Amino acid sequence: NQKPVQVKLVLLGEAAVGKSSVVLRFVQNDFQEYKEPTIGAAFLTQKCRLEDKVIKFEIWDTAGQERFRSLAPMYYRNALSAVVVYDITSSSSFDKAKSWVKELQRQASPNVIIALVGNKLDLVEKSEENEDYLDDVASFDQNAVSEPSQTHSRAISRDEAQAYAEESNLLFFETSAKTSEGVVEVFTEIAKKIPHE
Ligand code: GTP
Ligand code: MG
Repeated sequence: NQKPVQVKLVLLGEAAVGKSSVVLRFVQNDFQEYKEPTIGAAFLTQKCRLEDKVIKFEIWDTAGQERFRSLAPMYYRNALSAVVVYDITSSSSFDKAKSWVKELQRQASPNVIIALVGNKLDLVEKSEENEDYLDDVASFDQNAVSEPSQTHSRAISRDEAQAYAEESNLLFFETSAKTSEGVVEVFTEIAKKIPHE
């Protein structure tokens, strides 16, 4: 019998970092390998049930392409929460995320809840596991080690992003829209921070 609390949420970040994919995973538990770029913005809703309240997210998934840049303020202006996404294999996308955070802290509502999300964790996880494995084997027999197959490498360490998030007062997560790792947590942790009505 609990009435959901409606919460506007905006997603921001460089093109192709996976904003729409994170939302698709959260709203429909689905993933598309070839997702078309967002034009303008997309609107979706999804509920998040906590023990003591139900949050209904009204999600504005903005377009990252530069030509849509000027639309962003329309979507973040009255948003209670913002998810700023970067791709952990792209340092330019992390710089872009930082500039969105700055803009939000200056222009969005003063108590906006901001989450920083490093997406595409699946691209590096295999190789990071492999590196641990290689460390183990290397100490045993150097010659037994062959080069790992070509994989994406991490551009932004978890520690660097975490430190930046802490000093800027942001929630911080790493996710994979592809495997779903970490995605629900982003929205649940934001929901927990929404004050009771
Ligand atoms: P714009 O709408 O142009 O701003 O892009 P976007 O940030 O919404 O990116 P989108 O969700 O369209 O994803 C871009 C591409 O990255 C698509 O081909 C996705 O399949 C892929 N992608 C998104 N998230 C992940 C992920 O977690 N892992 C992997 N491997 N690929 C991903
Ligand atoms: Mg998109």
